[in-house]
Amino acid sequence: MTPAPIPIHWPNGRLTLEEPGCDWLVAARNAGIGIPTGCLGGSCGACEIEVNQQVVRACIATVPASRQGELRVELASDPYW
Ligand code: FES
Repeated sequence: MTPAPIPIHWPNGRLTLEEPGCDWLVAARNAGIGIPTGCLGGSCGACEIEVNQQVVRACIATVPASRQGELRVELASDPYW
């Protein structure tokens, strides 16, 4: 059985539906958002986003199943990047 798609709210106001397990970078691209990347290996932090207030490194994480039924993404605003 395929898991139900999760509604994701993006900082540009778009709402997309993604399967749990989808790469965050792909999900963001589907929403028209380019997440900055660096190492693509989980060590530099350039790709950090906040998903329901939890910091996630988008290059090594995937869309989780959401207990709240939806996810809200914010781009991490690190002034040093
Ligand atoms: S691109 Fe370096 S941690 Fe994701």
